[in-house]
Amino acid sequence: MDIDREDLITRLGGADAVARMDHEARADALEEYQSEQLEAAVAQTTKRPGGLTVEQVDAKIDTRPYRRGVGKLFVAERGTVPRLPPMPERPTLLDFFERRFVSTQHVLQSANLARRAGASEDVVLACLLHDLGQSLMRTDHGWWSAQIFEPYVSPRVTFAIRYHQALRFYADPEAGYEYPELYYQLYGVDYVPPPHVAAAYEEARRHPWYMDARLVTTNDLYAFDAQTVVTIDPFVDLIGRRFKQPIEGLGNDQSPVAHMWRTLANPDAPL
Ligand SMILES: [Fe+2]
Ligand SMILES: [Fe+2]
Repeated sequence: MDIDREDLITRLGGADAVARMDHEARADALEEYQSEQLEAAVAQTTKRPGGLTVEQVDAKIDTRPYRRGVGKLFVAERGTVPRLPPMPERPTLLDFFERRFVSTQHVLQSANLARRAGASEDVVLACLLHDLGQSLMRTDHGWWSAQIFEPYVSPRVTFAIRYHQALRFYADPEAGYEYPELYYQLYGVDYVPPPHVAAAYEEARRHPWYMDARLVTTNDLYAFDAQTVVTIDPFVDLIGRRFKQPIEGLGNDQSPVAHMWRTLANPDAPL
């Protein structure tokens, strides 16, 4: 059976979390993952989605010591959280990439795919940033991710980031996008997106920038090419051109989202 490494690593809380797991915990996690994948494969051949129902997913809530919506920087799903390196006095986006954001390989690979497919700079930047708000909060991550970058990127980039979350639930075969198999497992096989997601989808569908948001979803890969590790280096120029880095540093400027950057910079602050 093929192992989707990126998907597995993401589900285990990122590469750092995996590195901290002992051998036994890793073996258990792999076995659990493989049996889920097998379920999904069987479901595929019998043309029914595999996985739990919404009710069964819901029943797991009070079996965990954390909530599923918690930002990835703030919880270790297994083991303990790592000690974080200090931030420089005037932190840049690159500093957050290197020292705070979690699951950066996923967004780097997405941006790389978009660029190789000839997408616009706005779309490549949107792919590069699209899930980073999950470090702060997973619930409604499209809105969180868009908001945190809003003062520093073009409205078109913000649009693509915000709406990719809703568009992930709606297939667009013409654009080459199908409902993701993983969502049957994450949300339950009979999941129906809530009204605000359905409304956001309708709004985006009618918008002239629809394809920008759609392209974030088509480049939002779960497949992970273990042979290729994408670094931030090829995107440094793009960030320089398209990300308005505040001179005082992210978190030190007077923007309406400065506190969100400070929260990411200091996630161990008690209040
Ligand atoms: Fe996303
Ligand atoms: Fe994503």
